[in-house]
Amino acid sequence: MDNQLCIVLDFGGQYNQLIARRVRECGVYCEILNYRTPIEEIRKRNPMGIIFTGGPNSVYDEESPHISGEIFELGIPILGICYGCQLMAYTLGGEVSAAPVSEYGKTETYYDKSCVLFGAVENMPDSAVSWMSHTDYISRLPEGFAVTAHTKDCPTAAMANKEKRLYAVQFHPEVNHTEYGSDMINSFLKNVCGFSGDWVMDNFIEKTVAELREKIGDKKVVLGLSGGVDSSVAAGLLSRAVGKQLTCVFVDQGLMRKDEGDFVEETFTRLFDMNFVRVNCQKQFLEKLRGVTDPERKRVIIGEEFFKVFWDKVREEADGGFFAQGTIYPDRIESGKGKESGNGSTAVIKTHHNQVKMPDDIKFDGVIEPLGDLFKDEVRRVGEMLGIPRELVWRQPFPGPGLGVRIIGEITEEKIKILQEADAVFRDEIRKSGIEDQLKQFFAVLPDVRTVGVMGDHRTYDHLIAIRAITTDDFMTADWARIPYDVLARVSNRLTNEVEHVNRVVYDITSKPPGTVEWE
Ligand code: XMP
Repeated sequence: MDNQLCIVLDFGGQYNQLIARRVRECGVYCEILNYRTPIEEIRKRNPMGIIFTGGPNSVYDEESPHISGEIFELGIPILGICYGCQLMAYTLGGEVSAAPVSEYGKTETYYDKSCVLFGAVENMPDSAVSWMSHTDYISRLPEGFAVTAHTKDCPTAAMANKEKRLYAVQFHPEVNHTEYGSDMINSFLKNVCGFSGDWVMDNFIEKTVAELREKIGDKKVVLGLSGGVDSSVAAGLLSRAVGKQLTCVFVDQGLMRKDEGDFVEETFTRLFDMNFVRVNCQKQFLEKLRGVTDPERKRVIIGEEFFKVFWDKVREEADGGFFAQGTIYPDRIESGKGKESGNGSTAVIKTHHNQVKMPDDIKFDGVIEPLGDLFKDEVRRVGEMLGIPRELVWRQPFPGPGLGVRIIGEITEEKIKILQEADAVFRDEIRKSGIEDQLKQFFAVLPDVRTVGVMGDHRTYDHLIAIRAITTDDFMTADWARIPYDVLARVSNRLTNEVEHVNRVVYDITSKPPGTVEWE
């Protein structure tokens, strides 16, 4: 299985990572490469199959990515998707024209089941919904090709040259809206390319541990552990590979959730053989944050202080050797640092926080990113197989500045305690109510607001707690979760009864946009 590689050639489409994920879900290892990768290099990698992704609107746009016709001479099966489909037609001498009717969205599509892409799919009907997004269409097929699917408005919804093992679909089989789409990709991989489909995470762990041992030898490795999913799983893998040669540096800035620092320490020291170094520095952070209320200033201070403390510790611990980080595949693609991934228009989207800049005075033999080829869900699977607890593997996103961006106004030790308690109560109730899996993120916020209340016979003037729970696919947009009233009622009751200094609770019913998930 080691040599079975599928290359996803990136022409700048928005679903490229999704295509790669679908391929891996079929048990096939794949990598995304930039369309500019020289053909010779692609040949050397010896892929068993290539997929062209979608891309910009038209092969005729001035800036549109193109590819040399040589790629079709390699004898490697190719599946073109959307723009990739049109590019295949165009490059091989067909004609692509502006479509009289653009198609966008769910479209009834009629399949020719004598084509293996569709015919080999179990229970595949003669027609089904596909997801279209195109303004050009293939108006004349290249030589040797036959139409294998059509829609009401698009005569070439799919085409194939069986002899040359070249297949193409105008729609997007990788998105969920395309019925049987994953099956079509699977059919291409298994029936056309001949992949065995046995790339599984077990192999990944075994192979990665062996590679890490070989690379690290008897040297040391330092890893920054945040308690987040990626660094936790990286720590697990490295520990399995080199045990005590690994030192994990865990900076507890005192802005984590209740008991979280202790939980991370307890978990890692119990489960894994490694040196665990925890730096407790809440006082130092609070000192720096005293009197600061501006959200951006707070973020900057917390970020700068974190790295200062972290690198100081690393400097103490490092002894040559390697520096490891929990970078995952999407981080590398987003940073434009993937193995030649991303095209001119979509490269360098952001420099990711998982990839940190090292001070010049710290010298390592190299950087190790053991999860650099995995997607998030794959990282979670590895984490589970390594025995890392659910709370860490399925941890919801937690911002780098921690509770610092959930305490509005000045951050004080007292406020941190109130928020930690309130957040713990809220999380506990959500867990007990059985709706945890429906929420992508939920937490408490401590606004800088006091209100009047009455408790027993006494007037109170105390803190307000806001609770926030969201549903989302990608965190770019989000909706507030429709938590049942009785759950909200229990949360409110417990917060006002159990958390000292809280006398009022509000539920944040703002979606994103216009709100953001975090309050600061
Ligand atoms: P916003 O508030 O921007 O949050 O709608 C979107 C997602 O990002 C998380 N978030 C952060 N994560 N460092 C991080 O690592 C940060 O500074 C940060 N700010 C927001 C937030 O929790 C949500 O999941």
